[in-house]
Amino acid sequence: MKEIDPDKLPQHIAIIMDGNGRWAERHAMGRVLGHRKGAESVRVVVRTCRRIGISFLTLYAFSMENWLRPKAEVRALLKLLEEYLVNEAQEMMDQNIRLMAIGNLDSLGAPVLTKLRETIARTAGNGGMVLNLALSYGGRDEIATAASRMVDDALAGKIKTADVTKEFCQRYLYTSALPDPDLLIRTGGEYRISNFLLWQMAYTEFYFTDTLWPDFREPDLMEAIAGYQQRERRFGRTSEQLRRT
Ligand code: IPE
Ligand code: IPE
Ligand code: MG
Repeated sequence: MKEIDPDKLPQHIAIIMDGNGRWAERHAMGRVLGHRKGAESVRVVVRTCRRIGISFLTLYAFSMENWLRPKAEVRALLKLLEEYLVNEAQEMMDQNIRLMAIGNLDSLGAPVLTKLRETIARTAGNGGMVLNLALSYGGRDEIATAASRMVDDALAGKIKTADVTKEFCQRYLYTSALPDPDLLIRTGGEYRISNFLLWQMAYTEFYFTDTLWPDFREPDLMEAIAGYQQRERRFGRTSEQLRRT
């Protein structure tokens, strides 16, 4: 397993968990079994991130666009999510993990939403790590929703044009309580961001791997973090400037 430097950990890791369907196909199973196997990777990755000291982990579990999938698959994904929340709530308490969620959560419907709100409330006092689930999430929808709320506040006379700086906009996003991701991991071999955290990833380091999500385990995570630790994050400056500070 790749060695990682505990002093240079990404504070916030975001993951596009892709490749469940192809994993199932390769194992001659239905897509839903691929999602079920993917839930095991979620458990492993959450536990490992907590153990090594990651502060924020955001998992892209269901996109706004995923509603376009066949009804049976959507239903199975929501069911799996509900099961995950039921089964993992105690584990989150034991590991001092705080659950959060971003996205158009109301569209998830009653059983999932109730369980989600319950677990968020139950874990609200935990300070070990934030596990943030992106559910019915779309980056452009998030930005449009933020803009529309800003217009409401402007019409109500609460804000004026000059207030609208980038820091101000950030407060209207679903992620207002979270720092931007330092590292994005996408499994499953596609090189795209599929409407994930568009605003927040302005300076995120990207790591793509062909490994399918159900096969992604601790060594794969360590490899991604080790890769991140080799990067020089310049934020527009020169290497020389960074060496001097
Ligand atoms: C990711 O796996 C899980 C979700 C999008 C919910 P996919 O289901 O997209 O798997 P592939 O891309 O078809 O292999
Ligand atoms: C991205 O995967 C969404 C999630 C992992 C939840 P998709 O499989 O939906 O992405 P596209 O459609 O291939 O871009
Ligand atoms: Mg996919």
